[in-house]
Amino acid sequence: MNDIPDTMMAWKKTKPQTGGFELLESKVPKVKADEVLVKTHSTSICGTDIHIWKWDDWAAENVPMGTITGHETCGVVVAIGSDVTTHKIGDKIAVECHLACWDCDRCNEGNAHICEEGKIFGVHSDGAFAPYFTIPAVNARHLPDNLTLDLASIQDPLGNAIHTLTGGPVDGATVAIHGLGPIGLFAVNAAKAMGAKLVIAIDWDNQTRMNLAKKLGADVVLGKDDDIVQSILSHTNNQGVDNSCEFSGSPNALSNTIYSTRMGGYVNVLSVYGKRLTEVPMNDIVFRYLHVKGINGRKMWSTWDKMHELLSAGKIDIDTLVTHRMSYLEYPQGIELAMSGDCGKVVVDF
Ligand SMILES: NC(=O)c1ccc[n+]([C@@H]2O[C@H](COP(=O)([O-])OP(=O)(O)OC[C@H]3O[C@@H](n4cnc5c(N)ncnc54)[C@H](O)[C@@H]3O)[C@@H](O)[C@H]2O)c1
Ligand SMILES: [Zn+2]
Ligand SMILES: [Zn+2]
Repeated sequence: MNDIPDTMMAWKKTKPQTGGFELLESKVPKVKADEVLVKTHSTSICGTDIHIWKWDDWAAENVPMGTITGHETCGVVVAIGSDVTTHKIGDKIAVECHLACWDCDRCNEGNAHICEEGKIFGVHSDGAFAPYFTIPAVNARHLPDNLTLDLASIQDPLGNAIHTLTGGPVDGATVAIHGLGPIGLFAVNAAKAMGAKLVIAIDWDNQTRMNLAKKLGADVVLGKDDDIVQSILSHTNNQGVDNSCEFSGSPNALSNTIYSTRMGGYVNVLSVYGKRLTEVPMNDIVFRYLHVKGINGRKMWSTWDKMHELLSAGKIDIDTLVTHRMSYLEYPQGIELAMSGDCGKVVVDF
C-alpha cells in the first residue's frame, strides 16, 4: 500500500542502563511470507517493560541492545505476507506475544505457550512501542465482538489472569487474589465474571489498587493492616479458599496462599520472584494435598477463547482498569507512572 511510510519514529533500548531509551527514526519492517504488518493503535505498559527500563539482570540477559520493545498491543493489518490466508487488510487484531515454532514436542502436545524454541515479541525481537510492527499471522488475534481497538491491547494481561484462575475451580468457588497490580485486578474482575461465589482481593499497601479491586467486584479487600491468613480462613468456615492466585511476587504472599487454601485446593502462581530460590512451607503443601502450579503466558488458544467469550458478553470492566492513557511520545512518563504503582493499566496511543 502506498500510504505505508518507509520510516517511523520508534522507542529503542539503546543504552544498558536505567531508562536508556531513545525515540529514533527506524525502518518500517517488511512482512515475511507468514506475517502481517500492523499499524499500531495502542500498546499497554507491562511489568516486563519496567524490568527493561530498569535494565535488571533478567533484561540484560534477554533483550538485545537496540530492540524496539512493547508486547501488549493491538492495531490494524495494513499488509499481509504471501502465505497468509487468515487475515486481510483492514482487520483489527491484538497480539499474542509468545512466538512459537509450532513443531516441537510442547507445541505438538498443545502447549505452544511454553514452546521449546519460544521467543517473546517485543522482548527478544522488535515490538510495538512503534507506529508499525510485523508479527506472524497466527499471533495476530482478531478482536471479539464488543471490544474496541481502544481497549484491545489489554488482552495479554487479562489472558494471564484468566489462565491463572483456570488452574483451579472458579465457577461457584471461593477465590483469593494476592497482589492487585493490573493482572491481579483483571483476575478479580474475571473471577466474578466467571461465577466465583466469593472473591477476596489482597494487596500490601496500595490503596489506589485496593479501591479499584472493590469497584471491580471484590467481596472482601485485605491489606497489611489485616491478619491476611486469619481473615481468609474466617471468610471460608476456617477451611481456606478453593483457589488461590499469586500475582504479587512477594514470598510472604506466596506463604499466605499456602496457609489459606483449603485441603486439596489449588494454588496458581503467575508471579516472578526477585530471587531464584524462594522459601515455601513445603510440608503444608504436602499435608494439605495442595495442587501448586506455575503459570506462564496464555494457553494458545483456549485461554483466548475463554477470554473472548467473557469480552463478547461484556463481562469485563476494562474501562475501570485502564486508568491512564497518553501519547506514545510520552512513553517515558507512562513508565514512570506505572513504576509509581499509583494506577491501574497505563496505555499509550498512536
Ligand atoms: N508468568 C508470566 O507469564 C507472567 C506474565 C506477566 C507478569 N508476570 C508476573 O506477574 C506478577 C504480577 O504483575 P503485575 O504487573 O500485575 O503486578 P505489579 O508488580 O504491578 O503489582 C504487584 C502488586 O502486589 C502488591 N504486593 C506487594 N507485596 C504484597 C504482599 N505481601 N501481599 C499482597 N500484595 C502484595 C503490590 O503492592 C502491587 O500492587 C509480577 O510478578 C510479574 O512479574 C508473570
Ligand atoms: Zn506483558
Ligand atoms: Zn515449539
